[in-house]
Amino acid sequence: MNYQEALAKLKSYGQEHVLMYYNELTKEQQEALLTQIDETDFSILVSGREAATENKKGVITPLTAMQLPEIEAKKEEFRACGLQVIREGKVGAVLLAGGMGTRLGSDDPKGMYDIGITKKVYIFQRLIENLMDVVRVAESWIPLYIMTSEKNHEATCQFLYDHDYFGYNSDYVTFFKQEMAPASDYNGKVYMEEKGRIATSPNGNGGWYSSMYKWGIAQKAIADGVEWLNVFSVDNVLQRIADPCFIGAVLTAGCSVGAKVVKKCAPDEKVGVMCLEDGRPSIIEYYELTEELAAAKDENGDPAYYFGVILNYLFRVSDLETIREKKLPLHVVEKKITCLDENGEQVKPEKPNGYKYEQLVLDMIHELDSCLPFEVDRRKEFAPIKNKTGVDSVETARELCKDCLLYTSDAADDRISV
Ligand code: UTP
Repeated sequence: MNYQEALAKLKSYGQEHVLMYYNELTKEQQEALLTQIDETDFSILVSGREAATENKKGVITPLTAMQLPEIEAKKEEFRACGLQVIREGKVGAVLLAGGMGTRLGSDDPKGMYDIGITKKVYIFQRLIENLMDVVRVAESWIPLYIMTSEKNHEATCQFLYDHDYFGYNSDYVTFFKQEMAPASDYNGKVYMEEKGRIATSPNGNGGWYSSMYKWGIAQKAIADGVEWLNVFSVDNVLQRIADPCFIGAVLTAGCSVGAKVVKKCAPDEKVGVMCLEDGRPSIIEYYELTEELAAAKDENGDPAYYFGVILNYLFRVSDLETIREKKLPLHVVEKKITCLDENGEQVKPEKPNGYKYEQLVLDMIHELDSCLPFEVDRRKEFAPIKNKTGVDSVETARELCKDCLLYTSDAADDRISV
């Protein structure tokens, strides 16, 4: 793309300011900027007014979860089924580690964060050790796919390499990068992060499968016989990954996808809850839950929208293939975006200053025909780290890891301690 073409493209979206510093750039920087303009989809940028009206929900009704007593009664059957498919090489795990972790406020990838108290315990380490528990029982390695973004790819790969993958067999570890999207101010004007570079951010965790496909990794997984992918977030340090019981339950139920869920600890807890939307499985975000829905009761008198998702899903790959090219809704999220000030100096804002544009994995659920919400005990499986302090923070996760010792039978297990 040459300068004139770039200018024409920018004009059609009201983004001419992108070329403001063009004449100050070196030849290479100019070329890089023209390429970035060519590759950027400016059509997604919206102003605040439009952002407020996006993504209307359909008719919401309850979706019953498989709850702990039923799971307890069938756990041996589920476990045996799950272990069998793991041993047959049909299960892979996908770590979503492409996020920026802005709320945690570290410049490193979130997984590099040390949550230890008496010794170093990195988030990546905890997650890999959790997965190793299953590898040991199954006596079979589970392919681990790690999604990064252009912002943290090198650092993530290097860190895991330097730490010898925390004992994981590196033959079973594959990295892939997710796509990026432009970030804008509240009026939908794209920010510049450098004079020759548009501010971009990872485009959300919803593009994980299409990115896996883009890099040929999904095709390879399918050719290797992988039929199920357990997708999980980087920030829940207590979660069980490739959990045989969960896998067995989803397979036995014959669902396209399973979602680990926990009972909400408070009505205003910031987790999305499982539901049906226009008769199809869906997740309603905490800020979309009306008072009426929050107060609704099921036939047992329990809250009807009670089971919160913890970003741990098991997808059937053949069903993912059917939705791979579907366009998921775009979520407009207020975030802190590094940008240039009026003097062309780079600033890292202290508070949100604009919008990032994201597709979310939870919207994939609605595209699929059937979903099994599978309850897990939050004391054993939910310790999210979103913030440095306060709610869902390093501090709370440390406490939850310590408390978990009280509820698990393998209390001597060093893995649990931080
Ligand atoms: P969050 O929604 O917590 O976002 O991600 P984040 O970017 O990590 O953190 P904040 O909001 O900036 O503080 C939930 C999970 O989805 C992954 C994250 O790495 C985390 O595992 N994710 C998020 C991606 O892989 N890519 C993205 O573009 C966004």
